[in-house]
Amino acid sequence: MRLGAISDLHIDLHPCGSRIAEFLADLAEERGLDALLIAGDVAGYCGTTDRFMAELEERLEEKGGIPVWFCLGNHDVWNREEPGLTMDEAIRRMRSRRGFLQNDIVPLTGRTCLVAGIGWWDFSLADRTRFTDEDLLRYSFGGREWRSHGWTDTGGIDDRDLTKRWNDELLALVRSVPDKDVVLMTHMINHPAYKVPADHPNYAIFCYFNGYLGSEGLFEIAREPNVKAAISGHVHFRGRTEENGTVYTCPNLGGPAEFLYRVPEELLAPEWREKRAALPADAKPWEVNALLRPMDETPETLRFHVENALDIIEIE
Ligand SMILES: [Fe+2]
Ligand SMILES: [Fe+2]
Repeated sequence: MRLGAISDLHIDLHPCGSRIAEFLADLAEERGLDALLIAGDVAGYCGTTDRFMAELEERLEEKGGIPVWFCLGNHDVWNREEPGLTMDEAIRRMRSRRGFLQNDIVPLTGRTCLVAGIGWWDFSLADRTRFTDEDLLRYSFGGREWRSHGWTDTGGIDDRDLTKRWNDELLALVRSVPDKDVVLMTHMINHPAYKVPADHPNYAIFCYFNGYLGSEGLFEIAREPNVKAAISGHVHFRGRTEENGTVYTCPNLGGPAEFLYRVPEELLAPEWREKRAALPADAKPWEVNALLRPMDETPETLRFHVENALDIIEIE
């Protein structure tokens, strides 16, 4: 079975984001996918996410009925567009959408099950030699704020308690099928390779903000012996790594200002080409991105990014 995995579509951040359902359905057909998996952060409001998933489902139906499974991300449960909306209510509304999983398990083949849920953060991934729980409960450091905290109503539940509750549920599901292989999909990172590393230019703040990327507990769940593939998102660092025969992939699309440096020359508008040509040959990806401004995104470059982000996982 060929699975296509992608995360962090952020359709409302992309000038051409309304085209993403079309691109994904076309790619699902072109790549011969048996199912499409989306690991959260479709949009910054559950209503937008729901409309997108409805359109995607319809388009995949036209391609012969390729199934799509998805979990939410932290952005999908924001209440910025609907003050008073709780996370529980956002999840409840999504339950009527086919393919939606929040700490649920579904069979993919006779041998493999999919276990999926948002996952959450409990500060354990921050540099705990420097920051206490009290520091991390401020959700702000170095003049930057973890805005997701202010736009999410967990119903008064502490992030650490929520993480524990949801990790317990995910672990119980993984362990409920000891004789099956599991594909684990969470929005929060589920492998340490996706923490922002100490040699990254943004580590000066991510030594702190790594605390909101996931939890050590989720890393442990993803290392359960029957987990054969683990998909995550959230951090917007695209990557794929293998450990003890298990694939850990982080197939992010990300926002429009991210990954622009990968766009091939022929897809760039002339003024972009000039801008990029003016940079030194050894310019860092973030220096290139700083020049290629989001409003210049075209349907062609966006499709290129979607195609590049989509990761293929083969399972039995
Ligand atoms: Fe995201
Ligand atoms: Fe996220």
